[in-house]
Amino acid sequence: MKAIAVYPGKKDSVHLEEIAKPAVTDIPNEMGVLVRVLKVGVDATDREINDALYGQAPPGDKHMVLGHESFGIVEAVGKKVRRVQVGDYVTATVRRPGKSIYDMIGTYDMTSEETYYERGINLLHGYLTEYFVDHEDYIVKVPKGLKHLHVLMEPMSCAAKAVQQAYEVQRRMRVWSPKTAFVFGVGQIGLLSALILKLRGLQVFSLARSKAGTLNSKIVEGLGSTYVSTAETSIDQLVKSVGKPDLIIDATGSSQMAFDGMRCLGLNGVLVWTSITGADRKIEVPSDKINLEWVLGNKLLLGSVNANREHFESGIRDLALGEMMYPGIVQQILTNPVEGLDRYEEMMKLLTNEKAALKVYMNIASE
Ligand code: BGC
Ligand code: ZN
Repeated sequence: MKAIAVYPGKKDSVHLEEIAKPAVTDIPNEMGVLVRVLKVGVDATDREINDALYGQAPPGDKHMVLGHESFGIVEAVGKKVRRVQVGDYVTATVRRPGKSIYDMIGTYDMTSEETYYERGINLLHGYLTEYFVDHEDYIVKVPKGLKHLHVLMEPMSCAAKAVQQAYEVQRRMRVWSPKTAFVFGVGQIGLLSALILKLRGLQVFSLARSKAGTLNSKIVEGLGSTYVSTAETSIDQLVKSVGKPDLIIDATGSSQMAFDGMRCLGLNGVLVWTSITGADRKIEVPSDKINLEWVLGNKLLLGSVNANREHFESGIRDLALGEMMYPGIVQQILTNPVEGLDRYEEMMKLLTNEKAALKVYMNIASE
């Protein structure tokens, strides 16, 4: 069968690779789930792997199959599988456990080992192919009523983890009850984070460079968040008019913005960084000022990566609630379908364009 792969470490090596079709019996103890892939989303991570910024091939292979945002339909299950049935719509988690204690209890997104194993990203093949198989523990059912949001399950899981982690660490405050949040960035993670925070009842401001009127700004408004163009209103001006937020989520992909967030967080607040910045940028920061404010304000900086099964499940519940609260809005994120695995060059081009598409995904098979 066909797969879209790269040679990790080699720039611009995206290509079609012929690979063997997996079988449900590849997974021991009759716990395998064979999935026929319908759609796979791609993001900046895929672009940066093709730019050879990170990513390693699975041991024994020169190539690595790309793709970590999966959506498919169950084609076969091992006898002991209980979570899903043939015909169910599913997605799959991305990271697989290493050997740390966090890996052993299902929180592989929190591994304390330097090496991490992620399908389509590092040391494991991904989902940009026709079929994949995995243990049922990593397969997550997608409700039929959400199949129009297909490849958003994985990005949603990362947003769900980021928000959940923020609430989790803020239990240090005993009575934390955030009122206002700033979300930096209106890409998929920024938009989905804004949705989750709106569903938790916060007043949300979504910050991005472009002037209002873009699709992204319309989605922000459709979700009940307030769009702020930093080209028109600086962060300082925003803080002057609405105060410092209790929570900031940075999802811009700009380390400059990530650090800017440190200048405007409210007392006792939490700033969450979610972007992976693979380059080597350096900026100057007002370190004395930040140091002082952060100590005097009991402020917290939190990094959040990946997501485990629980975050997929809670993310899916929030997508369902989101459809009730803001019908038809989230699907507007799904802007750029590419038809068929053969068109991998078109896929990569859409990811590389300066005015990058909001969401690129591949239609691999129909039901
Ligand atoms: C993926 C995450 C992954 C992270 C780091 C992101 O693009 O969505 O699942 O953990 O990259 O590799
Ligand atoms: Zn991703």
